[in-house]
Amino acid sequence: MFALGRPRRILIPRGAGPSKRWGTPQPGHAPRPVRVAELRRETAETLTLVLEPEDGVMPAFRAGQYFTHCFEIDGQTVRRAYSLSAPEGGGLACTIKLIPGGWVSSHIQDALQVGSRYRLLGPTGDFLLEEGDGPLRFLAGGSGITPVISLVETALAKNPRRAIRLVYASRSQDQVIFGERLRELARHHPSLELVQVLSQPQAGWNGERGRLDAARIVALLGVQADADYYLCGPGGLMETAETALREAGVPAACIRHERFLAAPKTQSRPTLPQEILFKQSGRVVTQRPGESILEAGLREGLPLQFSCMVGGCAHCKIQVLEGEVALNEPNCLSPEERAAGYTLACSACATGPLSVAA
Ligand SMILES: Cc1cc2nc3c(=O)[nH]c(=O)nc-3n(C[C@H](O)[C@H](O)[C@H](O)COP(=O)(O)OP(=O)(O)OC[C@H]3O[C@@H](n4cnc5c(N)ncnc54)[C@H](O)[C@@H]3O)c2cc1C
Ligand code: FES
Repeated sequence: MFALGRPRRILIPRGAGPSKRWGTPQPGHAPRPVRVAELRRETAETLTLVLEPEDGVMPAFRAGQYFTHCFEIDGQTVRRAYSLSAPEGGGLACTIKLIPGGWVSSHIQDALQVGSRYRLLGPTGDFLLEEGDGPLRFLAGGSGITPVISLVETALAKNPRRAIRLVYASRSQDQVIFGERLRELARHHPSLELVQVLSQPQAGWNGERGRLDAARIVALLGVQADADYYLCGPGGLMETAETALREAGVPAACIRHERFLAAPKTQSRPTLPQEILFKQSGRVVTQRPGESILEAGLREGLPLQFSCMVGGCAHCKIQVLEGEVALNEPNCLSPEERAAGYTLACSACATGPLSVAA
């Protein structure tokens, strides 16, 4: 339990109620053309893409953020979010795990080559380092190590003596992503404690093994009054960890998580044009078959906010005043936002005449 010694800063927890998700709006949402400069195999299932902006201007990003990658596959534009796996100032790299049968992860692994070109949106995301030098505790599972390594390397670059514990869970030795990079980091930074846990280790493993249940997560991460906790991994692991940490006395405001939501399932879209009244500007826009509300508005030049385009950031949320929409699920809208009539312009389309507050 916490000994409440010194005052803590107040953080607004993510996820509950209208959240800080859209607290990091990004200027300039134009897609950014990039070129694949390098492909680096990390494990049999995982590949790192190193990207170069076509205009030669490296975009600024913060550790823990993600870009939305826009591919043209079979005549369709398909978007997926991928966290940056490089530290701040360390270039544009992301690391993608192949999902069996996955549309985009298969395309990346099978079709991309050095020289391939596509577009990025962003960066966005609020899985960010707290300012200051307080202790940091990370729990990463599988490909959840991607934003975590960016955060750990950035924190250590800013303060090489910052106390950091990283608990990293993988299935077996050959599934460990960035194994050598992490060991090297720990060798150079005595303040970094690296705890690797394998659920099904092959012969020769002398480290932690087995499933991470609530008690073990708390024991391995430790509970410390002034620490900030960062979780990224499979949904089940993150839920167990968050509940366990809360029950052990860690305030919700000290726990941050990044969810690698599966891509939203597209709702069937209307086959006829639909009229949308954007109340604020007084403009009526005709949504063409197949378009989202956002696409229709942007095509007509409305200054609508957006960032990720995949239902993950809520920069594009708008209030529906009248009419019905079909919204792709899952997405990041909270129950409170839904109850207040909000939808996501990037992920919804009007299914009849619609009026929105934007
Ligand atoms: C903010 C954010 C950051 C992300 N960062 C990364 C990253 O750094 N590296 C990375 O590899 N992925 C990351 N993802 C996940 C990524 O965006 C895609 O969802 C993933 O690559 C699968 O896309 P796909 O087109 O291959 O699969 P799809 O064709 O969309 O799905 C195929 C099947 O796999 C299931 N599925 C989809 N995604 C997942 C998943 N992540 N885990 C388990 N099952 C899934 C689907 O439900 C479906 O049944 C991130 C997601 C978000 C929202
Ligand atoms: S732009 Fe991110 S949720 Fe719509």
